[in-house]
Amino acid sequence: MAYFTDEKIEEVNEAVDLVELISNYVSLKRAGNIYKGLCPFHSEKTPSFVVTPHRRMFHCFGCGVGGGPIRFLMMIAGHSFPEAVEELARRYGVELPRPAAGSAPRQQTSGENRAAIYEVLKTARDVYEKNLWSDNGAIARRYLADRGLESSVAREFRLGLSPGGWDGLTRYLKAKGFGEKVMLEAGLIKEGRQDGHYDTFRDRLMIPIIDAENRTVGFGGRLMTADDNQPKYLNSPETAVYKKSRLLYGYNRARPYLRAAGMVFMVEGYFDLIAMVAGGINEVTATLGTALTPGHLNLLKGHVREVMLLFDSDEAGQRAAARALPLLLNAELDGRVLRLPPGHDPDTFMREFGTEALYEAASQAMDIVDFQVARMKKSYPDTMAGQARMAREAKEIIAQVPDSAKSQLLRRRLARMLELDEAALGGFAKKQGGPGRVLSHQPERRKKGPAFDEIAGALLKFMLIHPETIGEVTAEMAAYWPDDESRQLFSRLKDRHEAGLPVGPENIVCDESDELAALVSEAALSERSSTGEESMIMARAYMDRLIAVWRKKRQAALSEAIARAEAAGDGENLRKLLTEKNALQLK
Ligand code: UTP
Ligand code: MN
Repeated sequence: MAYFTDEKIEEVNEAVDLVELISNYVSLKRAGNIYKGLCPFHSEKTPSFVVTPHRRMFHCFGCGVGGGPIRFLMMIAGHSFPEAVEELARRYGVELPRPAAGSAPRQQTSGENRAAIYEVLKTARDVYEKNLWSDNGAIARRYLADRGLESSVAREFRLGLSPGGWDGLTRYLKAKGFGEKVMLEAGLIKEGRQDGHYDTFRDRLMIPIIDAENRTVGFGGRLMTADDNQPKYLNSPETAVYKKSRLLYGYNRARPYLRAAGMVFMVEGYFDLIAMVAGGINEVTATLGTALTPGHLNLLKGHVREVMLLFDSDEAGQRAAARALPLLLNAELDGRVLRLPPGHDPDTFMREFGTEALYEAASQAMDIVDFQVARMKKSYPDTMAGQARMAREAKEIIAQVPDSAKSQLLRRRLARMLELDEAALGGFAKKQGGPGRVLSHQPERRKKGPAFDEIAGALLKFMLIHPETIGEVTAEMAAYWPDDESRQLFSRLKDRHEAGLPVGPENIVCDESDELAALVSEAALSERSSTGEESMIMARAYMDRLIAVWRKKRQAALSEAIARAEAAGDGENLRKLLTEKNALQLK
């Protein structure tokens, strides 16, 4: 992160339209000059997530996270600090200095690279799309027609056709000036056995995958004629921009409909989703060939209360639905399971029975807990051993719900419905803090040890709210400030003050550190607690405590050094140390 100056970062922060940025992920409602919504970083049902655009801050009063635009992007998209800066700079048109030639190689994909990846994917999408509607596309269009798909729907989903040769796309993109490196990074080409490259997708019906911000991030490609030697679907590999555990197919187009619907249909296939949309059902998203993850539910949580799972009625689909139960409970979303007649998937069901029938089936859908219980009762025999195995599975499900109130609810409910003793299901859900923690998929940023001294943090926050104290405090405290993460913010306040620049939460962004970012965002939303005159008295109380802590530490260090000097017979050093110790005690 070294090569961005504070000025550059400030310029980026100023260029960002924070409400627009956050609205891509959270549905925000205006309340005066702030915006409120459901926090995307923890489960909640009443909004405690606040955006203050004039201060360029977000903050959640529920889980305590907060910060500026960079921090938001880091948290929501999993970017590193420099990646988030680069991404925002690119999006909001701020020019960044290029890293000096010969500087350390970047480990992660830079924002610049990311921009090139989006660009090459978009170009590929256009190539595929044009190809579908050209003379080359007759067979593919026939395939779509046979699947009952109107061309207007195919166009809405920007479906396409990948060229049939080995390197049709590669050659086209090269002619357009794209390098092989970016094509590889985008997953569009593969390295051949010799040094040549070839197209990842050849002669397949192409389904572009669009992210929450309307960018093409990858593709699914379907064979149009069955072939035993090739998978029916080929999907983009995971890339810097394609992370299937965080992406839902159709999410971007569904989002405007979700709030009104209050629920979302979750299907497993591209064509299942397309068929439902073609039938006028807009509240639908699809996983991308992977199990449902907490990342998927995070995308939905702010918008809907209920997820209707429409998985295949085969054993795999049943298991997928069962696995979703703890995830849904963790996200505080209701789940229901819609079972289609055997042999049907949503696509075939829609074509055979239509939209009304699907809504009718949805109205009969089972609660996911009932579904799970019915499934378990059916699959375990009513013998001692069978019941014991059933209890074990129930315990395993409960263990995946880290919140103790929620897991208790689930335990009670499962015990009652499975006719098991509640105590028998009480086993290992209590195992907090052990390796089992990984099952908690919610970001629990507040749980880890504090990154800095509590008093130092409180004083920093106090200074941000009472800026008239900054000059005196920073002048006096430089020597006594604890050597932890908080020093970064302290130095920033000091430097800005000494440079005669305004200092307040809106122009101090500390997005590099989640704890500092949260502290600043909290300050941005806090009211003054002291008037001008009192504020310095308050600040002094904090300072005294910090100095006392510093003294204690220093004395301990001195005593140790004195013992060492004595042992070594280093008279000169000993005298110096004793003088300092005496001076300290006199103060
Ligand atoms: P299905 O096998 O249920 O296919 O896979 P489908 O959606 O009904 O496809 P059609 O109707 O035959 O065209 C469901 C999803 O699993 C992933 C795809 O995302 C697909 O939409 N999948 C399936 C793959 O990634 N690869 C495969 O080979 C098969
Ligand atoms: Mn299908």
